[in-house]
Amino acid sequence: MEFAEKYGEWAIVAGASEGVGSAFAEEVARRGVSVVLLARRQHVLDEIAKGIRLASPGVEVRVIAVDLARPDAAALVIGATADLQVGLLMYNAGADANYKAFLDSPVDTALGMIQRNCVVPTELCHHYGAAMVARERGGIVVVSSGAAFAGAPNMVAYGATKAFDMVFAEALWAELHSRGVDVLSLVLGETDTPALRRLRAQRGQTDNPEAPLPGVTTVDEVVTDALDHLPLGPSWMVGEQLRDGAKLLTGGMSRNDLVAVMVQMSQAAMG
Ligand SMILES: NC(=O)c1ccc[n+]([C@@H]2O[C@H](COP(=O)([O-])OP(=O)(O)OC[C@H]3O[C@@H](n4cnc5c(N)ncnc54)[C@H](OP(=O)(O)O)[C@@H]3O)[C@@H](O)[C@H]2O)c1
Repeated sequence: MEFAEKYGEWAIVAGASEGVGSAFAEEVARRGVSVVLLARRQHVLDEIAKGIRLASPGVEVRVIAVDLARPDAAALVIGATADLQVGLLMYNAGADANYKAFLDSPVDTALGMIQRNCVVPTELCHHYGAAMVARERGGIVVVSSGAAFAGAPNMVAYGATKAFDMVFAEALWAELHSRGVDVLSLVLGETDTPALRRLRAQRGQTDNPEAPLPGVTTVDEVVTDALDHLPLGPSWMVGEQLRDGAKLLTGGMSRNDLVAVMVQMSQAAMG
């Protein structure tokens, strides 16, 4: 099947105002699928939409400004797309902009992350997944993180939500791939997104938040891998460094040793 035939007519990209999400939306549109862009910043989404309409005049673009940490977010998105045939769902929103100890933030910070990274993707996958199964075609990509591999400080709720995302997508693949719906857990290591640049600048690790971060995965690499691996499922780790690290971590290491290594690695990366 052609890409647009398999994953059209519409794709929803959650977290589409920058980085991996906007690049994914642009590429999907280039391949002939109309896109719904979700994120909080309306004006930024409007600019991305303008660029997509110019670059891919054959497709339509719909912008929905929504905070995916709100309890009514999924209902809002489902209502605003009720007239569309959604064949592709890419759930990308989900980094942690704070990188703080669990007790140093109000509990609502963790609860908002669980809402955005676990509850809302569960609701959206259930809703759009059912329609995809009925049509016997479609695709779902859920973005996870190396933080899912084991617990580490300053990522208490974040790492736990990403473990949820990884297992959720893998299991969904096991149920849906034989029914015509591709599912991919897309596991990212450090990736050169505006959000990571901002976090690095905030922590004094770079002077210029506009400058590309050396030695980390690029957004283009993530998008290429996501689209190459979506038909294959169930899980793909982007970047050789992450894949090598994962092999090392899961190669017979005890869970306690794994946590010790994760603690060291997170300190080395984030200071
Ligand atoms: N960058 C990395 O090094 C790295 C490493 C491992 C995994 N990942 C994963 O990759 C994905 C993308 O990360 P990222 O670095 O690009 O940062 P991010 O903070 O997840 O930003 C990505 C997009 O999500 C949107 N977003 C964030 N919170 C939202 C909310 N509450 N409601 C609606 N939209 C929201 C942002 O737009 P608005 O601000 O306009 O809402 C932006 O368009 C995440 O799932 C993250 O866990 C990233």
